[in-house]
Amino acid sequence: MTTLFTHIKSLLQTREETEKPIIGEELRDLPQIDNAWLLIEDDRIKDYGAMDDDNLPSADKIMNLEGRYILPTWVDSHTHIVYAGNREQEFVDRIKGLTYEEIANRGGGIVNSAKTLGDTSFEDLYAQSEERLKEVIKLGTGAVEIKSGYGLTKEAELKMLRVIQKLKENYDIPIKSTFLGAHAIPTDYKGKEKAYVKMVIEDILPAVAEEKLADYIDVFCEKGYFDLEDTENMIEAGKKYGLKSKIHVNQFNSFGGIQLAAEKNVLSVDHLEEMEFEDYKSLKKSETIAVALPSCSFYLGIPYSPAREIIKNDIPFALASDFNPGSTPSGNMNFVISLACIKMKITPEEAINAATLNAAFAMELQDEVGSITAGKKANFIITDRIPSFGFLPYAFGTNSIDEVWINGKNFES
Ligand code: NIG
Ligand code: FE
Repeated sequence: MTTLFTHIKSLLQTREETEKPIIGEELRDLPQIDNAWLLIEDDRIKDYGAMDDDNLPSADKIMNLEGRYILPTWVDSHTHIVYAGNREQEFVDRIKGLTYEEIANRGGGIVNSAKTLGDTSFEDLYAQSEERLKEVIKLGTGAVEIKSGYGLTKEAELKMLRVIQKLKENYDIPIKSTFLGAHAIPTDYKGKEKAYVKMVIEDILPAVAEEKLADYIDVFCEKGYFDLEDTENMIEAGKKYGLKSKIHVNQFNSFGGIQLAAEKNVLSVDHLEEMEFEDYKSLKKSETIAVALPSCSFYLGIPYSPAREIIKNDIPFALASDFNPGSTPSGNMNFVISLACIKMKITPEEAINAATLNAAFAMELQDEVGSITAGKKANFIITDRIPSFGFLPYAFGTNSIDEVWINGKNFES
C-alpha cells in the first residue's frame, strides 16, 4: 500500500543520511523542501521531492496537503509515564512555599509515588499509563523512552517494567525501557543507602535482565539520592548485562556526576540544569548526548539547562519531556519546543533538530526515526495550516497538529 502526500507547504527535516548527531552551528540548519511531495509504502518512508519535479510517483492513495507542513514525529528520550496516581497535593504545597526538596524530605516525592504504585495492580497501572501514552502520541510523539523507578522494590520495579513491555507489544511506536531502580532510597532503607544499591544490583537487576525487561539503566545521581560511587556501581552493573546508561545528573547540584558519566561514555546525561566548566570539558571529550528537560525547569521553577553553552561547545544536544508525576506532569513535546526557544534562547530550527534527530540518537533509534529519510519509519506530524514552522514554538499552548501518522497510518485511537 502506497500513499502520496502532495503540495506539502514544506517538508521538514529531510536528510539523506543520519550518521551522527547534529552539533554546533549545524543545528541552525533544518533541511526542508518547499512545495513538496512525500511517498510512503506500508510503514516506511519511500521517497520525497519537490512538486516541480517532472516525475511525480504514482500511488494507491493521494492526499493534498496544501498549506500544511510535514515533519518527523517528536522523539521523547526521557519519560516516566508509567506511574500510579498523581501528586496534586505536593503541587499545592509548593505553591504555598515548600520546595521540591522539603517535600521529598517529608516523605513526599518519589517515595510517595512508590507507595501508591505498590498498592496499584498491574492492570490498573497499565490502564493509567496507556492513557498517557495515547495522549502523547496524539501530541506528536512517535518514539518514547520510559523508565521504571517508582517501584523501589523488586516486585514493584518488575511490575513497572512489565507494563512497559506490554505497551511495547500493544503500540506501534518504538519504545525503549530503562531500569531506574536507583531513583530514590525507599523508606525502609533510610540510613542503609549502600545496602539498597547492593540490593538493586544483586537482586533486582539480575531479574530484570533475566526477563529482558530493560534496554538501558539509569540512576538519579544527586545529593540526597545516589552519590558518585553508587552511580559508578550502577553504570558498571548495567554494563555486565549489556545495558548502556542514561543518567539523571546535575539537576540540583554539580559534583562530578557528569565527569564520571562522560568518562564512562554513557549514552546520555539528562537534566543538566546546573553546569560547571568541568562538565562541558568532559562532555566535549565524550560521545555522550546532553538531554535537557525544560518542562521540569518550568514546573519546579529551577534554572533552565544552558543550551546555548552546550551547543557552543559542540556537545550533542537533545530535548525531552521528563513526563512524571512530581517534577513534570506533562509530556507535551510541543510545549518543550516552545520553552526551549523562549527560555533557553534556541531557535526553532535548533529546537526541532534537538527534539527529532538528536533525540533519536539519545535512544539509539537514529536509523528508524528522527528525520524524513527513505527507509525510516513513516512516523510524522501533519500540521494545521500555519504561516511558518516557527509558528509551532511561537504559538505556545496552541495545538497546531492536524494528524499524527505512526507506521504509515493515521493514529486516531
Ligand atoms: O527526572 N529527578 C528525578 N526524577 C524525576 C522526578 C521524580 C519525581 O519527582 O517523581 C525527574 O525530574
Ligand atoms: Fe526524569
